[in-house]
Formats: sequence, structure tokens, C-alpha cells
Amino acid sequence: MAILKRLALAFFLSCFSCSVPSLASSDEFLQCLTKKIPSELVYKQSSSDFTDVLVSSIRFPNFFTNTTVRPLCIVTPTEAGHVQAAVLCGRRHGVRLRVRSGGHDYEGLSYRSVRPEVFGVVDLAKLRSISVNEYESTAWVDSGATIGELYYTIAKNNSELAFPAGECPTLGVGGHFSGGGIGMLMRKYGLSIDNIVDAKLVNAKGELLDRTGMGEDHFWAIRGGGGESFGIVLSWKIQLVHVPPTVTVFSISKTLDQGAVDIVTRWQVVGPSLPDDLTMRVKVQGQEAMFLAVYLGTCSSLVATMGREFPELNMTSSDCRPMTYLESTALSFTTLAHIGTPEEMNGSGLIMLEPHGGFIGSVPNATTPYPHRDGVLYVIQYLVFWPGANGATAQTWLHDFYDFMGHHVTANPREAYVNFRDLDIGQNAVVDDVSTFESGKVWGERYFMGNFRRLAKVKAQVDPTDYFRNEQTTPPLLHRRK
Ligand SMILES: Cc1cc2nc3c(=O)[nH]c(=O)nc-3n(C[C@H](O)[C@H](O)[C@H](O)COP(=O)(O)OP(=O)(O)OC[C@H]3O[C@@H](n4cnc5c(N)ncnc54)[C@H](O)[C@@H]3O)c2cc1C
Ligand SMILES: *[C@@H]1O[C@H](CO)[C@@H](O)[C@H](O)[C@H]1NC(C)=O
Ligand SMILES: *[C@@H]1O[C@H](CO)[C@@H](O)[C@H](O)[C@H]1NC(C)=O
Ligand SMILES: *[C@@H]1O[C@H](CO)[C@@H](O)[C@H](O)[C@H]1NC(C)=O
Ligand SMILES: *[C@@H]1O[C@H](CO)[C@@H](O)[C@H](O)[C@H]1NC(C)=O
Ligand SMILES: *[C@@H]1O[C@H](CO)[C@@H](O)[C@H](O)[C@H]1NC(C)=O
Repeated sequence: MAILKRLALAFFLSCFSCSVPSLASSDEFLQCLTKKIPSELVYKQSSSDFTDVLVSSIRFPNFFTNTTVRPLCIVTPTEAGHVQAAVLCGRRHGVRLRVRSGGHDYEGLSYRSVRPEVFGVVDLAKLRSISVNEYESTAWVDSGATIGELYYTIAKNNSELAFPAGECPTLGVGGHFSGGGIGMLMRKYGLSIDNIVDAKLVNAKGELLDRTGMGEDHFWAIRGGGGESFGIVLSWKIQLVHVPPTVTVFSISKTLDQGAVDIVTRWQVVGPSLPDDLTMRVKVQGQEAMFLAVYLGTCSSLVATMGREFPELNMTSSDCRPMTYLESTALSFTTLAHIGTPEEMNGSGLIMLEPHGGFIGSVPNATTPYPHRDGVLYVIQYLVFWPGANGATAQTWLHDFYDFMGHHVTANPREAYVNFRDLDIGQNAVVDDVSTFESGKVWGERYFMGNFRRLAKVKAQVDPTDYFRNEQTTPPLLHRRK
């Protein structure tokens, strides 16, 4: 016990002496910002609009309470130069920056700090342009755009083009792409990161770099390694993919009485081995399993495929819903949104099973930082919602269920997906003002497996002093001082 207390005290002191800048440097930081960035783009805590801007993309009210550690200021850049200026001011005056695109981080790390810390937020909401190059089948998209805006803009240009990414239209491109991007086109075309060909970022020196300028290791790291460790990504050049003018969607529910257990059991093998054109995920909640599929083809061919591969579901042509691919992106969101009201939930939640296999499994596990490739059957997302007071019951359900599932999933490590951020699996310890590699390994090898070490080496090259840091950023793998 005594040793523990001493360690805790030492940690507290080192935090205070090294990473929290004095009030004076906070003031100087703000002065520096207002010299270089138009003042209407900088919201200080004293600004009347500060709270409105802060909450504008907070998706989890739990992360905005009276005790939440708030940023010193929020910068809303309208051009790359403003982002560069914010980084230079932050470096000069010892104030860290967190970057926010769509604000969906499951731990709110883009706008709150779990530890007492002085930091600024760079909110990219005003950098959201999208330009499609139909002839090249590529597009440049800014990090502040949502994936729904991206889907819409691509489809309006050419309804047979699309981009593989997630299922919730309000996700921000910046956080979503830098962490992976799984969705309904993934078995055919992979994750978002498998289809990114260039990017522009501001590095820890405040330089604006494209793929050539940053080099291949740095470009590798931002495609799935969690962008916040490696700079501020402003925009991405993406390779668009082909979809037919009409796709076929179905959603079929089965209750326990209708054999849900056996059908889900069978799905575990079938889902990841279906033809690439067919992605079928499952929502399991209470007494019911819902199978939701998007098929890049016609109803008759889907019915034939389902009859051959998965007769247990008894899918027929009356289940088919033909629509454009764009319409299907809105539909899967609607289905997800019907997760239930807090009153219906009663302290328990649900799991979403997202099948892998197909193209995802064919990409070697070191090609991008996302290592969950060959042999992975599916990813499980554990979700629970709660109205204020029932938080404890809901969280207990979540923790107990997650523990229970430990017997049935990957082990050593129990794999995890960085875009489903979870601080319960570990947080960095900071020693001499740098996050330690050993502490990062605890959570990092679960997200990135063998790729974690390479990410830490890239971090050492591009940000050796650990400027871009939060509770779960990749630490620099530095040679130990003797
Ligand atoms: C309702 C909901 C549905 C989801 N559905 C899916 C899904 O279908 N598929 C899937 O793969 N994931 C899904 N996710 C997870 C989602 O991909 C991640 O939460 C993602 O990080 C969100 O990105 P954001 O820009 O909205 O979040 P933010 O909170 O803005 O950012 C998330 C993290 O990325 C960093 N970051 C943000 N922008 C940048 C940038 N420009 N440069 C560098 N770092 C940056 C932030 O600092 C933060 O650490 C879902 C999440 C929610 C809440
Ligand atoms: C939070 O602050 C508001 C406004 O100051 C106050 O009304 C409310 O009671 C506080 N809530 C808690 C839980 O302290
Ligand atoms: C589609 O892309 C082409 C080529 O980039 C462009 O000329 C055209 O204006 C775009 N059309 C729409 C509707 O955005
Ligand atoms: C599926 O169809 C078969 C015969 O076609 C039937 O025996 C079975 O009960 C059906 N299963 C469900 C869950 O409806
Ligand atoms: C909700 O939970 C309580 C306590 O666990 C239980 O008694 C009740 O039956 C549950 N209600 C429903 C609708 O599941
Ligand atoms: C990739 O998979 C192989 C075989 O399972 C494993 O030995 C290797 O460590 C993995 N690499 C990464 C980067 O996870």
C-alpha cells in the first residue's frame, strides 16, 4: 500500500511540474493564437459562444458534465494555415491540442481530457469540402466533412460510385478514416483505410505535408493507427469504388422461439464466407436477432445465394427491398437508431456483429495498422444506452457481458478496434513528460497487435517529444537513456 501511495504521489507531482503549463503560458498561448488566427475563429472559455461550440458535436452527454475537464479554447480553422499556427503556438507555449472532426469518439477524447490538463481543441467543422473527380474515380475530402455528406456528394456526381466507410452518416471523416472505417461495403472493398491514396496533414513541427512530404511510414500510420498520435490530418484523397445502380437490402428478425440461437450460431460461419457482394450483419438484443444485409446485386440473385448459403434464415423475395446504394446507407442508420428508448432498455444493451472475411481478410495484416484480417470472423460492438440515473446498472451489464464473452473470442491479445475506443483496456503512463512504450503496449497490442511497435517507431520519428498526446495515443519508441 505504501508503495502504491508513493507512486501515486510521484505521478501527481510529475504531472504538475511538467505537463500543465502555468497560467502565464496559457495566456501567451491565447495571445499567440489571436495574433495569427482571425479572432472570430478562436473561442475562449470567456466567449459567450464557447459552450455552444463545445457541445456542437458532443454525442455523449455523459462527457459534458460540470466536472468535465474543458479545453482552454476552441479553434475553428478555415484554412490549413490556421491549423499550422495553432500547432506552432501550442508548441511554443507548451499547450497541447486535441483535434475534433465529427466528435464521435467513444471516450470523448477529441474534446475532453480524463486527466487534469490544459489543452486547446482544433475543431475542423469548417473544413468540410468534398471534390469528386469522376474521370479518375477519386475524391478529395476534408476531415471536417461527415461520411453522410461524402456518400451524398459522390452519389450525386455518379450514382454508381461510392466509398467504403461506416454506417452512421454523422461520423466525421477525420477520426473515422484515421482509425479504420468498417461498414457495409467492407467485404467487397475493404475498410476506408484500404482505399486512401493520399492525405494532407500538419505535423508536430507545424509543417503541411502530403504523402510524398510525410513519407510512407507516416502515411501508413495515419491509415488506421489513430490519427491523433501523428498530426492533424486536414484532407484525404480517396479511391472511389463501383456499386450497381440498384442494390438489394433486407432485414429479417428472428426471436428465440423462431430459432434465433441456432441461426446466429450458423451465421458465425456463413457471414464471413458469403460472396463478397453480400454483407450481412446481426444485431442481437434481448430475445431477438436482426439480420441486416446489403447485396450489390438483384433480388433474384440474392434469393438464390441465400437459399444456397444460408437456408436457415428462410429469406424469400418478399424480404427484398431494392434501392440505390445511397438510400441503403441511410437505411442501415435508421435500423441502428431503433436501438430502443431508455425506457425500453432497462439497463441492458445489445451487440452488433460485423462480418469480416472477403476483401478484408485478403489484405496482409501489416499492410495497414488495422491487423484484424485473415482468419477473423467478425467484430463485436457492445452497446448500452442509459438515461442519467440508470448508468450504474447499464455499465454493470456491459462489463459483465464483456467479461462473459471473453471465453468465446480472441485471446492473447483479446483484440480490439481503435475506432471503438475503450479506456478500460488501458491508458498511458507519462514519465518525464513522454508516454511510456510499456504502458502503451497494454492497450496498443490489442488494437494493433504486431503493428503497435511499428506505430511507436513512426511516432518516435515524427513526434519524439510526444506533443500529440491523449490518454491513448501511441507513445514514441525511444532508445532508453542510460
Ligand atoms: C453512433 C456511432 C456509430 C459508429 N459507427 C461506426 C461504423 O459503422 N464503423 C466504424 O468503423 N466505426 C463506427 N463508429 C466509431 C467511429 O468510427 C469512431 O468513433 C471515429 O473515431 C469517429 O470519428 P469522428 O471524427 O466523428 O470523431 P472525433 O471524436 O472527432 O475523433 C475521434 C478521434 O480521432 C481523432 N481525430 C479526429 N479528427 C482527426 C484529424 N483530422 N486528424 C487526426 N486525428 C483526428 C480525435 O482526436 C479523436 O482521438 C461509430 C461511432 C458512433 C458514436
Ligand atoms: C451543474 O451546474 C449547474 C449550473 O451551474 C447546476 O444547476 C447543477 O446543479 C450542477 N449539477 C451538478 C450535478 O453539480
Ligand atoms: C462530377 O464530377 C465531374 C468531374 O470531376 C465534374 O465535372 C462534375 O461537375 C461533377 N458533377 C456533379 C453533379 O458534382
Ligand atoms: C424455415 O423453413 C422451413 C421449411 O421451409 C421450416 O421447416 C422452418 O420452420 C422455417 N424456419 C423458421 C425459423 O421460420
Ligand atoms: C427490468 O429490470 C428489473 C430489475 O432487474 C426487472 O425486475 C424487470 O422485470 C425488468 N423489466 C423488463 C421489461 O425487462
Ligand atoms: C500477422 O499474422 C501472423 C500470423 O498469425 C503473425 O505471426 C503476425 O505477428 C501478425 N502481424 C501483425 C502485424 O499483427
